[in-house]
Amino acid sequence: MLPYGRQTIHEDDIAAVVAALRSDFLTQGPLIEEFEQRFAEKVGAKYAVAVNSATAALHLAMRVAGIGPGDRVVTSPITFLASANAAAYVGATPDFADIDPVSCTLDPVSLEKNWKPDTRAVVAVDYAGQACDLPEISRIARARGAIVIGDACHGVGGAFHTASTPGKTWKLGGNPWADITTFSFHPVKTMTTGEGGMLVTDRKDWADHARILRSHGIVRDPASFTALDAADPLAEKGPWFYEMQELGYNYRLTDLQCALGLSQLKRLDDFIARRREVVAAYNRAFADLSWLRTPTTRFPADADSSSWHLYTAQIDFAALGKTRVEVMTSLRAAGVGSQVLYIPVHLQPWYRRTYGYAPGKCPLAEKFYQRALSLPLYPTLSNADVAHVIQAVRSQGAAS
Ligand SMILES: Cc1ncc(COP(=O)(O)O)c(C=O)c1O
Repeated sequence: MLPYGRQTIHEDDIAAVVAALRSDFLTQGPLIEEFEQRFAEKVGAKYAVAVNSATAALHLAMRVAGIGPGDRVVTSPITFLASANAAAYVGATPDFADIDPVSCTLDPVSLEKNWKPDTRAVVAVDYAGQACDLPEISRIARARGAIVIGDACHGVGGAFHTASTPGKTWKLGGNPWADITTFSFHPVKTMTTGEGGMLVTDRKDWADHARILRSHGIVRDPASFTALDAADPLAEKGPWFYEMQELGYNYRLTDLQCALGLSQLKRLDDFIARRREVVAAYNRAFADLSWLRTPTTRFPADADSSSWHLYTAQIDFAALGKTRVEVMTSLRAAGVGSQVLYIPVHLQPWYRRTYGYAPGKCPLAEKFYQRALSLPLYPTLSNADVAHVIQAVRSQGAAS
């Protein structure tokens, strides 16, 4: 069975993790800082903070930006739950604007039209690896005193173009429009640490704060300790001493995971190059199918700069004369896995119950959901695998 996504693990990765296992540190050792530095360089950001998931990175982004009760955070409904849940974790109200039908990312026009005065942040999700319209989203947000949190979980290693800077590429994570960017290293993403995530920003104060929050809110720098009366039981401050000055979490990534991350990072460009080849092959092979829309990009050049985490085709199942379940079942029988990414988050029962969201709130996202089907896309797909997927998909039409 060819799954819709999977990790690519080489002998080098295994050797790197084994070496870490033989070292003095399984966690909290030197590989964390090394991974953070290499990653920051790779994406062009000043600071990187490694955490044990992108969900944790999104949560910390909310915390360091001071988002909380009474604030609204807007995101795209076509995303994984975590993009919106992070706002709820800090007591803010997650809200949604619609997608633009070309890139299937947050539509700035819908964002601006639905803007509410209590909106303090936009979580800009780079669906499938394609950057959302960051310059426009940031213009709208900043003019209203809000910040942009990039959810580049699909976009590790990806870059994009803008209308105002023709010929130039900007990196996800290293651009002037997102105030903080978060990345995921879950196995189906473009590189992996097992579970894992990264928060990047150019703001030192936010990076420092995120580091404190990822480890229980603990402070070890004597210069930051609370001044106490000499008679206080905690007045003696030796080498063991630390203070918890605010409520934090255990969001630490381990050295074992950072060893894997450092090793994967070296091959990230190769991984993405192969993803682009597979996407180009699918696009060519499906171009003539009237019932299938291949993924489109905002700028043609984005097809060659996107990290292509997902290949999501939009299928007109009515025109095809088959339900999505029938197509998925038939593909599975041919050894081809597929997945529906994503169920619009605002329509999840918890969101309907908690915030009163209902069908019709984001019509284009809801229509996209009806048609979406993600096909196998990962670097180790061979040309024969790709040909097999193409044949299995095309034959859906032939059989109808
Ligand atoms: C768009 C998006 N945001 C956030 C997340 C959360 O990432 P993680 O699984 O690393 O917590 C994911 C993971 O699937 C995602 O796809």
